[in-house]
Amino acid sequence: MKKRLYMPAEISDYPSTIRSKFRELFNQEPVIIRSPGRINLIGEHTDYNMGFVLPAAIDKAIYIGIQIREDNEIHLHSLDYNDHHTTTTDQIVRSGKLWPDYILGVVEQVLRFAQDDSNSGITNATKQHVFASAAKQGFNIVFGGDIPPGAGLSSSAALECATAYALNELFGLGVSKMDLVKISQAAENEFVGMKCGIMDQFASMFGKQNHLIRLDCQSLEYTYIPFNLKAVKVLLFDTRVKHSLASSAYNERREQCEEGVRLVRERKSEGGSQKSEVRSLRDVTEEDLLSYVKPVNEVVYNRCTFIVAEIQRLLVGCKDLENNDIEAFGKKMFETHDGLSKLYEVSCKELDILVDMVKDDPNVLGARMMGGGFGGCTINLVKNEAVERLTKKVSEMYKKETGVEMLVYEVGVENGTQIIS
Ligand code: GLA
Repeated sequence: MKKRLYMPAEISDYPSTIRSKFRELFNQEPVIIRSPGRINLIGEHTDYNMGFVLPAAIDKAIYIGIQIREDNEIHLHSLDYNDHHTTTTDQIVRSGKLWPDYILGVVEQVLRFAQDDSNSGITNATKQHVFASAAKQGFNIVFGGDIPPGAGLSSSAALECATAYALNELFGLGVSKMDLVKISQAAENEFVGMKCGIMDQFASMFGKQNHLIRLDCQSLEYTYIPFNLKAVKVLLFDTRVKHSLASSAYNERREQCEEGVRLVRERKSEGGSQKSEVRSLRDVTEEDLLSYVKPVNEVVYNRCTFIVAEIQRLLVGCKDLENNDIEAFGKKMFETHDGLSKLYEVSCKELDILVDMVKDDPNVLGARMMGGGFGGCTINLVKNEAVERLTKKVSEMYKKETGVEMLVYEVGVENGTQIIS
């Protein structure tokens, strides 16, 4: 089970709280970096299938204060957990708790990056400098943030990106933002063990105020799409549940998609087609799935048909946004939910209840579960004038059906990772 990373804390101004804690613990002035959480409008589970995603960075973030030390010690302090972890630069090992691992995983990847000759955009001189300084010189970190706990808004990716960005600044590493994203994703994949795609780290790092990012996860090309809806608010309804199979089921879905690709590749090549053409579900059509996967494995077929349809749905959905047709876009969000629930099977009772409750409400243009699944939030596009009434109604009904007090966040779209002071 992916544990909750942050406890709810009553801190209203993270940068100044970090600054004073830093003085108290280390008698130093920190550099402060902000790295946001993310929403995703459409394109779920498509990132690791080399499709497209449509995320945005939000106005809830992780804040990190960082400063170099004279020795090789690493001191980490979490404001929200009120907990401390200490190690040294030659002892980058799992902490036995979860929160330090998001930071230490990034440190490990930064050191590995510096030793890897194949990566681009970084000179040998820089590498030596990176390695020499980052490998021997320790640092202090105090961090905290207001990304709601366990809500699927990528607080872990935000912490990884904040750390990668902070180390890059602190040691003058000269690593590009794209490489910082890859370093952060690799930290999550390898150190934490969650085989996530690139979406969350990318959105946190590259977010832009009042814009969505259409990211092609195959080429990593991206375009910003204006998103400043005057008449509609983005509301997140937090189920406040996170079922324990979330991360194992996530890794299992990845394997099922890979299995689908393998079946198409092998069977197509038996029929004389080029083997190399099919590298991911991006290269697969509905017809391929019908001919080569459905007869062999119905479950794998269901997973793959959802992904192939979702990639197309996103592309048409972006056209809807260009044409200012939010109604058409919203309908696609409902379709996405349906597919995630019935074909990809990553929804849960609580998420389905929340989407069902708003499905026939004319004030809700679109709604669906968001992120990996098995809990977390639904994302809803709601007409301004209905926000209060709807929130009250849904909260009451949800409480009645599940016994759980739902949480609601109205989110704005903000810039990605940056230094704030
Ligand atoms: C999680 C992962 C992402 C992505 C989504 C589903 O948030 O971290 O990489 O796969 O699930 O779209």
